[in-house]
Amino acid sequence: MDTSTGLKSAPHRREAFRFSGWDARAAWRVAEAVESCDLKIAGPRGVAEARALAAEALGPSVAPVEALIAIQRRSGTAVLVYEEEGVITGALGVLPLSPLGLDALLNGRLDLSRPVGAFFAGGRTRGQALYAMGIVSVTPQAARAVVTGVVRLREAFSDIGFYARAVTAAGRRVLIERLGCRDLPGTPLMWSPPDTTALEIAA
Ligand SMILES: CC(C)(COP(=O)(O)OP(=O)(O)OC[C@H]1O[C@@H](n2cnc3c(N)ncnc32)[C@H](O)[C@@H]1OP(=O)(O)O)[C@@H](O)C(=O)NCCC(=O)NCCS
Repeated sequence: MDTSTGLKSAPHRREAFRFSGWDARAAWRVAEAVESCDLKIAGPRGVAEARALAAEALGPSVAPVEALIAIQRRSGTAVLVYEEEGVITGALGVLPLSPLGLDALLNGRLDLSRPVGAFFAGGRTRGQALYAMGIVSVTPQAARAVVTGVVRLREAFSDIGFYARAVTAAGRRVLIERLGCRDLPGTPLMWSPPDTTALEIAA
């Protein structure tokens, strides 16, 4: 037994999340999209490590670990990580928002420090938008992985809108140059709209 957690000590037991419904399909789609970039969906320990990395680069406003774990459990994905020799050197936070969550984001009511479950896709609630809440790396390999990863995710979920908030100049450049995002007037957000061709194919 791992006495700190009370769980059996096999790493997969400590790390695994269980998903079903929309979250299971989303987790599968996300994992498949980012596999070639060597990114993976973080387990609870990985979420904590990734959050620490992001807070160091971006400041204390990064959402708390418990909130990120709760969103990851509900939505199938929230935090993706890149590891080098067992150490997380890159992380990407991308949240699937429900219709209510998108409305909250657009009206400045999405508070990630106290997440409301209904704001996130999961169970029977489909994702209406992807919200990229953070991207961070501390090595060139990790930068390549997280930047390529977010581009692959955008492609995999091209049928829904993509939203982000640029906190730094580097982040803004990635959003414009790599993801084709633009400012969303009247908000502090940047976005790229759904690909309507993809919607027609899906219909
Ligand atoms: C944000 C951050 C990850 C961007 O990293 P970056 O190295 O400036 O990003 P780049 O756009 O140059 O892309 C990184 C690599 O991915 C590659 N890449 C980018 N888009 C790609 C794509 N569509 N397909 C394949 N590869 C791609 C680039 O060629 C580059 O590879 P290279 O290093 O071999 O040339 C990094 O600056 C960082 O961690 N900053 C600190 C935290 C921060 O400011 N985060 C943003 C908050 S909004």
